[in-house]
Amino acid sequence: MFGKRSTIDQQEAPAPVSQQQKAAAGEPASTAAAYAKPEPVEAPKANAGAAASAQPAEPAARVTRPRSEEYYDVKTTVFNALIDTIDLTQLAKLDADAAREEIRDIVSEIIAIKNVVMSIAEQEELLEDICNDVLGYGPLEPLLARDDISDIMVNGADKCFIEVDGKIHETDVRFADNSQLMNICQRIVSQVGRRVDEASPICDARLPDGSRVNVIAPPLAIDGPTLTIRKFKKDKLTLDQLVNFGSISPEGREILKIIGKCRCNVVISGGTGSGKTTLLNCLTAFIELDERIVTCEDSAELQLQQPHVVRLETRPPNLEGEGEVTMRDLVKNCLRMRPERIIVGEVRGPEAFDLLQAMNTGHDGSMGTLHSNSPRECISRLESMIMMGGFSLPSKTIREMITGSVDIIVQAARLRDGSRRITHITEVLGMEGEVTTLQDIFVYDIIGEDDNGKIIGRHRSTGIARPRFWERAQYYGEEQNLANALAASEVKDEQGGPVGGSGRG
Ligand SMILES: Nc1ncnc2c1ncn2[C@@H]1O[C@H](COP(=O)(O)OP(=O)(O)O)[C@@H](O)[C@H]1O
Ligand SMILES: [Mg+2]
Repeated sequence: MFGKRSTIDQQEAPAPVSQQQKAAAGEPASTAAAYAKPEPVEAPKANAGAAASAQPAEPAARVTRPRSEEYYDVKTTVFNALIDTIDLTQLAKLDADAAREEIRDIVSEIIAIKNVVMSIAEQEELLEDICNDVLGYGPLEPLLARDDISDIMVNGADKCFIEVDGKIHETDVRFADNSQLMNICQRIVSQVGRRVDEASPICDARLPDGSRVNVIAPPLAIDGPTLTIRKFKKDKLTLDQLVNFGSISPEGREILKIIGKCRCNVVISGGTGSGKTTLLNCLTAFIELDERIVTCEDSAELQLQQPHVVRLETRPPNLEGEGEVTMRDLVKNCLRMRPERIIVGEVRGPEAFDLLQAMNTGHDGSMGTLHSNSPRECISRLESMIMMGGFSLPSKTIREMITGSVDIIVQAARLRDGSRRITHITEVLGMEGEVTTLQDIFVYDIIGEDDNGKIIGRHRSTGIARPRFWERAQYYGEEQNLANALAASEVKDEQGGPVGGSGRG
């Protein structure tokens, strides 16, 4: 019933109401005044339109539209009258559109009764604002409506940050107080049947549009409820776009394409927000249309284009602590579903064992992502996930299992200038004694930084002409493409030899 965002025109994104509620809470509306250019209450519609169309030119963090203090005063009056009039529990029973209609009717009536002087445009804005507050996510609405934001981070009522283009900005979005923020958090998590309060202060949830939400509340979060939203991107990036961004070179794209096509088992490794899921999504584009694919995710993010896909999602325990379905349950189950490829959104725990088993037992071309900062660390993380899963296997056996299953590690990284790069394509060769041997075939070198702090670097192959998956590539008729891509991305030093040596590690 909170599916409100679709009805909000992005350009017309309303300002949060918090100021009004601040005033209601007895606080001076000084924050509002600080960024509200005085504007006549009866602003003609043309003005409102101009303000809206001027919005894109404003800095990314500028979310609220300047409003006059009168506006907030009027809103407080109307809002309080509305709360006195309506029965919120009855309202909750209506569907979103009906509830909005209901509020509209009552608000129009209140405006008439109270003799408030307002233009039609102002009245529309006020209605939208109040609806967002009562039905939607209040001050978060304008942020949720924007497609350019990838993350929203609210640290208590007075601090809200967003990530745009890899950079974090503080916004001018404010909540009236921590209890308003907590109410909104509660509203979000209650949609997936969960509850967040002092007794259970940590909660994961999902917005109706697929965005992932985490809430951690006091007393664990010391400075107030802390809300993190990873916004769902409707249009996932493609590998071609990654090339345009410089995340990978055209030759690198070719290598990834071949890896995807010739059914290598791939683990995508990287830090939080480094672009792992995006990359996984890109790699799945090279899967043949007739393959049966099963995806397992904590919350469905992948957007596979193939016709024959089964999507599975884990489930957290309910309020009584029952009914949990873990990633391990899903991966184990999907082995019985006759998949040709298994895709695990994020490997975090003992399901690593099952994924490796799958990779080992005829589900070539399976893929997953894993949180780690280098290909080497990726291997040791896999190992420790299996150890901690309570499988009593000697570590040599675990390592052999890893090297026997994983063919390629693709490392993604978010660099200090906010850009995302694919920094390694690394092969898992095998074991030398107790040690796993890795071989980089394609890497990213950071060369320097330009005047604006942007990182300058280059992608290159490491001079390996015949990677371990060469035979596989041959089998799929891709060996010539592979040879060309590798040769074309070689960087020669003055003596004409390859830079950086063999990449053996
Ligand atoms: N190469 C890239 N260039 C620019 N933005 C990217 C790139 N890869 C991912 N992103 C964006 O970064 C955000 C995080 O990406 P995601 O794949 O979810 O990261 P992870 O799974 O590693 O946490 C998303 O908003 C995504 O659109
Ligand atoms: Mg991810």
